[in-house]
Amino acid sequence: MRPSPAPYPAGLTAPGATAGTWVGLLDAAELPQGSMRRVTRGELDLLLAHIPAGIIVTDDRCPHMSAPLSIGTLEGCVVACPLHEGRFDLCSGDPVRMPTTGGLDPDGIYQPAWSPSGGGPKLDPPGKKAEARRLTRVRRFRYYPARVVDGVVEATLPRP
Ligand code: FES
Repeated sequence: MRPSPAPYPAGLTAPGATAGTWVGLLDAAELPQGSMRRVTRGELDLLLAHIPAGIIVTDDRCPHMSAPLSIGTLEGCVVACPLHEGRFDLCSGDPVRMPTTGGLDPDGIYQPAWSPSGGGPKLDPPGKKAEARRLTRVRRFRYYPARVVDGVVEATLPRP
């Protein structure tokens, strides 16, 4: 089956992308279903992911603290961040599991820290670091409109 772009939620287009220009990113043959790749264009580090619905292009930055998701793992629509165990849904743009650090979800609601082992969370002593964790908000993904032309994945990227 020929690869095609996946739909993404309305309202989650990356800033500047709709007025951007189409840029070739990767040979679609290098992105089989279930895989992810990082592609850098200028100052943008992009995540190309081939989820069941097709190919999606977003920033290769975790919506929590910007770790590269391309070195995480992908299962269906869900990408797992290698840094704080967060899981994020590339189909909806939302977190499906908050990071171990806790913090604010996309709606600004505080979610507590947790431990992967199910034990007590690793808590920072009161101070700026603990406050920073508490106030860090996980964002929803922002997407770059994509297409496949002559076997090449393209996306509209903001003009420099
Ligand atoms: S940077 Fe990804 S979960 Fe924290």
